[in-house]
Amino acid sequence: VIIKSARFNHDFYDGVITGDGVVSYRKSLSEIQQVYQQVPQTLSPDTLMYTVYSFDAQGDNTLLWGLTVMEPVLVAGECNMTRGHYHADQAQPEIYFGLAGEGLLLMMNHTGECWAEQVTKGSVHYIEGNYAHRLINTGDMQFKVGACWPKAAGHDYKAIDLQPFPVRVFKSANGIDFAEQGDNNEV
Ligand SMILES: [Fe+2]
Repeated sequence: VIIKSARFNHDFYDGVITGDGVVSYRKSLSEIQQVYQQVPQTLSPDTLMYTVYSFDAQGDNTLLWGLTVMEPVLVAGECNMTRGHYHADQAQPEIYFGLAGEGLLLMMNHTGECWAEQVTKGSVHYIEGNYAHRLINTGDMQFKVGACWPKAAGHDYKAIDLQPFPVRVFKSANGIDFAEQGDNNEV
């Protein structure tokens, strides 16, 4: 038998995904500021918010493997969050898993119901194909979350712009606070 090395590596708890076919991008505050209630002038637009790594096997019917590393940044007291998305193909689910730090996986269905799961090292989260999903760093260190999803899922960011998550998560010396818009929402 021919023994080959792995196509890519994921240093789960201390590192990132490396190898051929791994791509990454960094999101700075200026690229995501629209999701926050308020952006203070004291915070540089170049502030690194999160970095996303993914391994793409380059094919039609493939699985993608990803890692999101979120910095412990507060934006006028609001916790660092990803833009969030629905899948373009809502038949395609996704799995997230916590690797370091602590935070929330905020989910929402098409009727605007919103809820969250606590994400910590070792937690695994099954995201139904038709749920919007967003990560939020509520801790004091980097929040690292792994993901595995079918490439066919795609991303739909527009639906989130049209119907934003109805919950904002703030952090202060007193702890975590949720600001909810409208009724009928639970966190
Ligand atoms: Fe997704």
